Amino acid sequence: MSKFEKSGWAEKKHAKEFVENADIYILERKRLFMILKSFYKYFLLDSELERPIKVLDLGCGNGALTMELLKEDDKIQATLVDGSSEMLKNARENLEPYSHINFIHKTFQKLLKSESEESDILVDGFDLVISSLAIHHLHLEEKRSFFSYIYNHLNHGGFFLNIDVVKAPVNELERWYRVLWSEWIHENQDNLEVDTNFEYLPLQYKNNPDNHPDNLQDQLDALKSVGFKQVDCYYKYGVFSIYGGKK
Ligand SMILES: C[S@@+](CC[C@H](N)C(=O)[O-])C[C@H]1O[C@@H](n2cnc3c(N)ncnc32)[C@H](O)[C@@H]1O
Repeated sequence: MSKFEKSGWAEKKHAKEFVENADIYILERKRLFMILKSFYKYFLLDSELERPIKVLDLGCGNGALTMELLKEDDKIQATLVDGSSEMLKNARENLEPYSHINFIHKTFQKLLKSESEESDILVDGFDLVISSLAIHHLHLEEKRSFFSYIYNHLNHGGFFLNIDVVKAPVNELERWYRVLWSEWIHENQDNLEVDTNFEYLPLQYKNNPDNHPDNLQDQLDALKSVGFKQVDCYYKYGVFSIYGGKK
């Protein structure tokens, strides 16, 4: 079983480094956010709901993802969860101008435990559950349990959308995807005119014992197995993907 407390994310400096540099080395980060916003506008904002939309952001980091949605709809009632107190502190500061925001300092493992012990931390039903670059820290069995947890916390007709890194079906492709990612970082660094070089990062990602990416098909199957409908991959570029489903 994975342990958040033993991972790099439990360290303050790790959180700080991500917040400062994610735009340089997360492949097509802006586009990932743009797709999420398009999804939100198409499926939720233009829906018939006559109340604020309830969003749950799992592994929220500094709140970047929720912040993008709030630019589209400042009435959102958002709940942000993260295991890192440093990240939540950043999220609190970034989302300070907005009301109706709830912050929960808990690991995914503790959320799952609370549900099984019938002392569930999250009582709300959500219209949209989002996550970005966090769920790949769980093993496949844990991912399956977590997808089921997410399903149980969605309102009927609600959506789950996960931006995450996935494993290629074969090693040959995995190696090329890492090269592709390095090439993208190289180009992005030139465009942003930054001095620090992050082209080593795809290899570090592969060797980091905190990362447990699984292949896309296994995750789509896991979503279907817990009850999700309309399961699909909405975007993929090398190891980066956006996938999800509807309750
Ligand atoms: C790569 S950051 C992404 C942050 C944010 N979602 C974004 O895209 O900017 C991963 C986040 O997931 C959180 N995280 C990782 N594993 C977790 C776990 N098991 N339970 C709770 N949070 C976790 C980390 O603390 C970190 O804030």
